[in-house]
Amino acid sequence: MTEDRKERQRDQYRAPDPAEGPLTTDQGVAVDHTDDSLTVGERGPTLMEDFHFREKITHFDHERIPERVVHARGAGAYGYFEPYESCAEFTRAAFLQDPSVRTPVFVRFSTVQGPRGSADTVRDVRGFATKFYTSEGNYDLVGNNMPVFFIQDGIKFPDFVHALKPEPHNDIPTGASAHDTLWDFVSLQPETMHMMMWLMSDRAIPRSFRMMQGFGVHTFRFVDAQGRGTFVKFHWKPKLGVHSLVWDEAQEAAGRDPDFNRRDLWQAIEAGQYPEYELGVQLIPEEDEFNFDFDLLDATKIIPEEQVPVRPIGHMVLNRNPDNFFAETEQVAFHTANVVPGIDFTNDPLLQARNFSYLDTQLIRLGGPNFSQLPVNQPVTPARTNHRDGYHQTMIHKGTNYSPNSLGGGCPALAGADGYAFSHYAERVEGHKIRKRSESFKDFYSQAALFWNSMSDWEKRHIVDAFRFELGKVEAVHVRERTVEQLARVDYGLASQVAQGIGVAMPEPGANTHKPQASPALSLENLQGD
Ligand code: HEM
Repeated sequence: MTEDRKERQRDQYRAPDPAEGPLTTDQGVAVDHTDDSLTVGERGPTLMEDFHFREKITHFDHERIPERVVHARGAGAYGYFEPYESCAEFTRAAFLQDPSVRTPVFVRFSTVQGPRGSADTVRDVRGFATKFYTSEGNYDLVGNNMPVFFIQDGIKFPDFVHALKPEPHNDIPTGASAHDTLWDFVSLQPETMHMMMWLMSDRAIPRSFRMMQGFGVHTFRFVDAQGRGTFVKFHWKPKLGVHSLVWDEAQEAAGRDPDFNRRDLWQAIEAGQYPEYELGVQLIPEEDEFNFDFDLLDATKIIPEEQVPVRPIGHMVLNRNPDNFFAETEQVAFHTANVVPGIDFTNDPLLQARNFSYLDTQLIRLGGPNFSQLPVNQPVTPARTNHRDGYHQTMIHKGTNYSPNSLGGGCPALAGADGYAFSHYAERVEGHKIRKRSESFKDFYSQAALFWNSMSDWEKRHIVDAFRFELGKVEAVHVRERTVEQLARVDYGLASQVAQGIGVAMPEPGANTHKPQASPALSLENLQGD
């Protein structure tokens, strides 16, 4: 028998073996003929009483569910996570205590913009979402392959995604970042600049899901057994190294094999070449919260590894493909608010919005409040709740279902103070109710410039080419110009290269533009230097 608790749980949900009996209806009645409808005579009308026909067609008619509003296209795999050593010094999370304990996981990789049927190798962010089925309940680390995000506050997410998605009148383009509404939005919302640098880099066209980093993006909080908090950023590092396609390869792959990344993951696992990732953390003592020249709560910023090194704490191996794409990869529901004792949130306004959004969207995507009963979403620990009824209820609950309760017979007791229950980190907060972002979030360009300056010459060339290609498709000239103005605040040389490629004039250099930096591989001859 497998030692993997999730595997044992899945075994209970497998459909009956088709080899072990005849075809039946949903009611278990054996069927002897499924190719012809019940008709009056050989050429007459179909009869209403043909329940097999009606059931078959009705079920088919209802086979589709809404796709995810973002990250619709994905590929998933099961595996396990093992810590290298106990992390008790920082967190009491049970799955991070004992190197001999393997925690089952399910990971879903995804693209963000395109619909479920779009191509894999488009220029886009990739989702990297991990569900840890821990002994204390499910923990979801819902990350991306880039360490920052487009916006600082989740209230902008609908605006951003509306701009990113195909344009409303013609539903074009799918799976690409080359269109007016996206660049209109980003050039008006300069907090996007750092992420746009990543998006125009080769990171946005990964060679394989096996060769991709993952990041939790936000600053989260570890909490130890004494209730002491430590800020934490999560990093996944692939054992195979980080590799990207070049743009021509990405475009060719999209044509020749739109499933390029999904097929690669599936085949590698089938062949026993199990993808492996190391989990690392950047740890920041709470007393250091304000020791950075950016805000730790700002998801458009990285913490440079020179300042806070990444400490490896464990590794994950993906060793089993799902048995059924729909049941598992499509129905899996990740949620940033799925945390376990020892892992908690910060006040990052993007994270706070996500903590609302995922459950809300899954209520409609997965048809009601009982989707945590689906096999892929079920924790391996028993879920004892007072929740009842609703669409797709599959549990047969007995007894009462309210609390407080002196009659018993069903209502679970509350966990005692034995250290196993989740209790929210008792952070002290006070202030006025306002809609105003902190001044500490207002530097939009320094880290975009840091990113650009850290690139090698050929990486810079790829970034310039990407800006030229994507922005070159934008029809509104003022949007092109405004984007170049924003880029000039990141780096004048970069902006100038882009401007030349898309036929717009450079803004006059001024206080807001960054001076050109000498770079032998980029021709700076035609720059209007200051
Ligand atoms: C889906 C990551 C920001 C709303 C996803 C998925 C990932 C992800 C990996 C796909 C999960 C899967 O494979 O099923 C991120 C990251 C973000 C971010 C790393 C920023 C750091 C946001 C924000 C919102 C949001 C700000 C809204 C306020 C959604 C929604 C889905 C989704 C609605 C679809 C979920 C579903 O239908 O199951 N996100 N996201 N995301 N995200 Fe985010």
